[in-house]
Amino acid sequence: DYYAVIMAGGGGTRLWPLSRQSRPKQMLRLGHRRSLFQQAVERLEGLFPPERILVVTAREQAPQLQAQAPHLLPQNFLLEPMPKGTASVVGLAATVLARQNPRSAMAVLTADHLIQNTVHFHRLLRAAYNVAQEGYLVTLGVLPTYPATGYGYIQRGEQLGEQDGLPFYRVIRFKEKPDEVTARAMIEAGGFDWNSGMFIWRVDRILEEFQRWMPDLAAILSRIGEAWGTPEGQATLEHLWPRIHPETIDYGIMERADRVAVLPAEGLGWNDVGSWDSLFEVLPQDEHGNLVLAEETSLLETRGTLLLSEQQGRLIAAIGLEDVVVVDTPDVLLICKRSQAQKVREMVKILSQSG
Ligand code: GDD
Ligand code: MG
Repeated sequence: DYYAVIMAGGGGTRLWPLSRQSRPKQMLRLGHRRSLFQQAVERLEGLFPPERILVVTAREQAPQLQAQAPHLLPQNFLLEPMPKGTASVVGLAATVLARQNPRSAMAVLTADHLIQNTVHFHRLLRAAYNVAQEGYLVTLGVLPTYPATGYGYIQRGEQLGEQDGLPFYRVIRFKEKPDEVTARAMIEAGGFDWNSGMFIWRVDRILEEFQRWMPDLAAILSRIGEAWGTPEGQATLEHLWPRIHPETIDYGIMERADRVAVLPAEGLGWNDVGSWDSLFEVLPQDEHGNLVLAEETSLLETRGTLLLSEQQGRLIAAIGLEDVVVVDTPDVLLICKRSQAQKVREMVKILSQSG
């Protein structure tokens, strides 16, 4: 059995002020007719039937997400009382799936990425399933292009084999979100992939890793597992969840685990839409390299600039701008240099501290 688990509970501060606590990144459409979450569900069509798709999300987000994917089963939405990071998300899904079949495999997927090539995505997920059957924790690697500090890095070892013409390699080391010096050294050394944030493994294998590296979480999960499927299932979850120490799967498991493999995922057209600047890699621009996501604009000698407005009946006029980001929402107007767009996170931090 092969299941897809979509992690859809993150907040996302990098596309602030469009994304907020109340409107997380996976709910954004970014010029597309479907939200990122809807696209994440749609791209599974033909590979996973609806009953094999689980969505893990925060309780408050669930109604919105369910409305966007009405063909998914309500019982396949797993609701966290509060966010505790991706380790608990994966652990909960694995615990629930293990009750049916511990030898089943799960593809852990994100809700807020763009993937252009769905055909190749399906091919990779099929190949990854076969690698996972051998007991490997499978990561999908993306070729790095700059010393990013917001990604995990995967050091490739020897080739372990090939599935459907796709080679896969032993992972020597997994380093989550390195500082810039370390990231630069890894890029220069070569042989590193970025972690795409998607994982494929057998349910029994990942639960074994939780036991080994995160025993406190594993103990909580096993109590939830025992109650699951009884009338006390959700209540047990609500009762125990606050005790979980927040952690991501990357720091909690991937940096420590053995038997990790990487399947290079070139050609996916993968983009994690991690900053306003990254939108330029994925959305069509006008002849001056401007990205216009607004009803009405008038541009004069403006280049490489993003103009986004949700205000109806609002004209944005720009003169002589170069490589600037302008995001206009009802209560916040963001203006920044494209090259500094990743600092939006710092701004959000400052604002939340100043109340
Ligand atoms: N349900 C739920 N609950 N979902 C969550 C939670 C949570 O507590 N926290 C995060 N998510 C979801 C997000 O919505 C997103 O779909 C996914 O899990 C990944 O979380 P991010 O917070 O976006 O992780 P990241 O971008 O910092 O890092 C991860 O992805 C990178 C690639 O984009 C890591 O796996 C990195 O190693 C990787 O390079
Ligand atoms: Mg992310």
